[in-house]
Amino acid sequence: MFSMAETNKTADPCVMVIFGATGDLTKRKLFPALYNLAKDGHLPDNFAIVGVGRQEMLSDEFRDQMIANLKEFAGSQPDEEKIEWFCSRTYYTGGDFDDDKKLFKDIKDMLRDVCAANNIPENYFYYMAIPPDLFANVTQKIVKNGLGKEENGNWRRFIFEKPFGRDLESAKKLNADLLKILKERQIYRIDHYLGKETVQNILVFRFGNSIFEPIWNRNYIDHVQITVAEKLGVELRGGYYDSAGALRDMIPNHIFQLVTLTAMEPPVSFEADAVRDEQAKILAAIQPFSPEDALHNAVRGQYGAGTVNDKPVPAYRDEEKVSKTSNTETFAALKLSIDNWRWADVPFYVRTGKRLATKHSSIVIQFKKAPFVLFRDTPVERLTTNRIEIHIQPDEGITLHFGAKIPGPIVKMGPVDMDFNYVDHFGEQLSTGYERLLFDCMIGDATLFQRADMVEASWRIVTPILDVWKAIPARDFPNYAAGDWGPTEADAILKQDGRTWKNTAV
Ligand SMILES: NC(=O)c1ccc[n+]([C@@H]2O[C@H](COP(=O)([O-])OP(=O)(O)OC[C@H]3O[C@@H](n4cnc5c(N)ncnc54)[C@H](OP(=O)(O)O)[C@@H]3O)[C@@H](O)[C@H]2O)c1
Repeated sequence: MFSMAETNKTADPCVMVIFGATGDLTKRKLFPALYNLAKDGHLPDNFAIVGVGRQEMLSDEFRDQMIANLKEFAGSQPDEEKIEWFCSRTYYTGGDFDDDKKLFKDIKDMLRDVCAANNIPENYFYYMAIPPDLFANVTQKIVKNGLGKEENGNWRRFIFEKPFGRDLESAKKLNADLLKILKERQIYRIDHYLGKETVQNILVFRFGNSIFEPIWNRNYIDHVQITVAEKLGVELRGGYYDSAGALRDMIPNHIFQLVTLTAMEPPVSFEADAVRDEQAKILAAIQPFSPEDALHNAVRGQYGAGTVNDKPVPAYRDEEKVSKTSNTETFAALKLSIDNWRWADVPFYVRTGKRLATKHSSIVIQFKKAPFVLFRDTPVERLTTNRIEIHIQPDEGITLHFGAKIPGPIVKMGPVDMDFNYVDHFGEQLSTGYERLLFDCMIGDATLFQRADMVEASWRIVTPILDVWKAIPARDFPNYAAGDWGPTEADAILKQDGRTWKNTAV
């Protein structure tokens, strides 16, 4: 599974075709990720990029844009020689995506010429960096024009950005439409969270060490908390966000990936399907939300005006491209129950939101209290419990929290932390999170991509909540101030169980 780190091999010779090459994702993430891969020697010499967009533009103009974007987004001083290498193998063609004659014929001709000029076998992977409602249509046109079929030993792969559907019904339809014309193994549903080192490290931490797994269960773990907190508001994505909301945007994808990696049984191997089978079992074991659960174990919030970084910031409803009467949630918290032998009665509390107190994503494994018979004179709230915190962003690392004796003549216990930080240990790795995933697609490893059944299982869990929220619009929005930790109802979900969120210091 950890092909890049272990084998240091390069990807197969291929052409990456980016639909939506003039968009934000391409300039901020895809090109910097490709640049980082090239810099570290993971791209083959026989490699090319074909950008496809709506605008008519010459390849030279597109290259100029790409150079400017790389200089802005590829971290420290990009290497001129590598930029030159990139430019020499980047091409562009533009046109109307609805016109399947002209544009797709141009793409076909360009791919033929690019492969001949760069001595590349016809291995293509298509990256759909376009609005999701175009995914099926564009894929159909690619296939209809003879560019989707794998033949003569050459592969054709398709990467789809998130969101993959907006509820169970639409995800099922999209899967069905794609599976009519592609094989599941050609489809790569991306979730860039899985490109992060710490996320991949969850499996190594759990299954590569012998000391954690024996206690990774209901006998020792009290509960699990997963937080994906953002300090930013909706920025320039108000239009998209107002039709999606925090739950759709983060929970069935990023957060459920973290839940499944934390909760899954050891896979029989690190082959894609072995890992994904175990993740799928966890999704199947998460108890569905009845309408009553949706009212009691799911909380939504929307930020009002507040203060962030000592500066006043506007309410969500005053953000650009957001309706003044919007009822879209910018915060969501759920209490999940995983109905299996390992996790019965161990709640997984998850939350995500925008304009929260700090930018922080983590998984907190809270262990049960030790039998504190020796410390019976210490007030309960001062007794230390064990906690493992897996930090995902902005700092990637792991903290073990435990009790130690405070020096002095009297036996007194105090909390201490043992920290592992990726940067301190391995040095700064410039990464967008997309490098690993692009590379995996080029070598045909789908382990870190979502399978059709996983996507549908995730939507199956959250769709009843979306239905209840739609049927009963929130009456108290905005219900948290920008710069806070979300609405008080989110605290109540844990409080009713005698627990509290672990909020990172601001
Ligand atoms: N940006 C991110 O950080 C991010 C993160 C996660 C997922 N995503 C997903 O990635 C995809 C692209 O996002 P983005 O932020 O790059 O969006 P964007 O900046 O709006 O760019 C979208 C691209 O698609 C093209 N496009 C838009 N509407 C089109 C249409 N009707 N027909 C043909 N082409 C069209 C645009 O062409 P023009 O230049 O001509 O408008 C542009 O090249 C979306 O599915 C999004 O949900 C993005």
